Parts: sequence; structure tokens; C-alpha cells
Amino acid sequence: MTLPLDRAAFRYTMGHFATGVTVMTTTAGDRMHGMTVSAFASVSLDPLLVLVSVEKSTVMHELLVQSGTFAINILGKRSESTARFFADNVRLAAPEFREGGYRLGITGSPILSEAAGYLEATVHGSQEAGDHTIFVGRVVALEIVTEEEPLIYYRSGYRSLD
Ligand SMILES: Cc1cc2nc3c(=O)[nH]c(=O)nc-3n(C[C@H](O)[C@H](O)[C@H](O)COP(=O)(O)O)c2cc1C
Repeated sequence: MTLPLDRAAFRYTMGHFATGVTVMTTTAGDRMHGMTVSAFASVSLDPLLVLVSVEKSTVMHELLVQSGTFAINILGKRSESTARFFADNVRLAAPEFREGGYRLGITGSPILSEAAGYLEATVHGSQEAGDHTIFVGRVVALEIVTEEEPLIYYRSGYRSLD
């Protein structure tokens, strides 16, 4: 059955595409910020490029344009509460990062201690895309910290491989 060309059908269809879950972070001036992101992908091996699609209305969008740098923290299956936290505006009322729970990477972006791994990037280019902007990042650092299995997002819910 084909579906109507509307937001609900688009969301429902895209929900069938399982993704990993990350927390994208940046620091603009003295403000550190993080946001849960699943629209993250590898783009190029030479040079090393990644992309992330960021909604224009987000705080992240505004800060990323200022900082020009970001980190992508890859979440493992034990980090569902962290994914929920960084997708909820309630977090903005207090410092988003707890002491001892992060360090600053070479771009100044917060690296979460619990991340299974991370990449840091400088903004290489951007492309407006409807209500989002696609930012292409040139990778300047990367590390895998643990081989913990990934956190998966599928049909509006968090899952793991088992
Ligand atoms: C699993 C999941 C994945 C998400 N992926 C993205 C994404 O790729 N891009 C985006 O702009 N928002 C994404 N969001 C929504 C943002 O995390 C959410 O709107 C956030 O509160 C925006 O933060 P900010 O406005 O404080 O920067 C996602 C949310 C969830 C729960």
C-alpha cells in the first residue's frame, strides 16, 4: 500500500530505518551545548568527512554556526537516559554537563565520559535543506573507547541489538 505524501507518513516510513544514536556537542564562547542526533552519516574517506542534519530552530543550530566545530558522541546501549536527556528542553534550565561526566576535546567540544566513541570535526561546508541544514564536518580527531554494543533508534523507540 502506498502512503500519502505527508509528514505523518514520512515519519512512519523513516521510522522503519534503524539508526544509531549520538549526542552532538559544541562550545560557542563559554557555552557548552549538546543535542541528541540520529541524522549523522559518513560522507568521504579522502578527506575524512561526516554529515549531520540539524533543525534550523534548535539552539544547536545557532551555536554551531558560531563555533564552527562539533563532536559526535556515539552512544552505547546503556545510554538511553542520556539520549532522552539531550533531546528534552528541560535540560536547558541547568548546566547540561555534570562535572566529571565530560572533558573538552581538541575542538573545545564536550566529550562524554560514557560515550562508546567519538569524532570531532570542523565545519567544512553546509547546505540548506528545508527546515534543516546539512553540515559537513572535516574529521580532526576520533577515538573508540569501548566496544559496548550500540544504542539503536527504531520506530520511535530505543532498542539494542539483543
Ligand atoms: C533519537 C532522536 C534523534 C534525533 N535526531 C535529530 C537530528 O538528527 N537532528 C535534529 O536537528 N534533531 C534531532 N532530534 C531532536 C533534538 O534532539 C531535539 O529537538 C533537541 O531538544 C533540540 O535541542 P536544542 O534546540 O536545545 O539544540 C532527535 C531526537 C531524538 C529523540
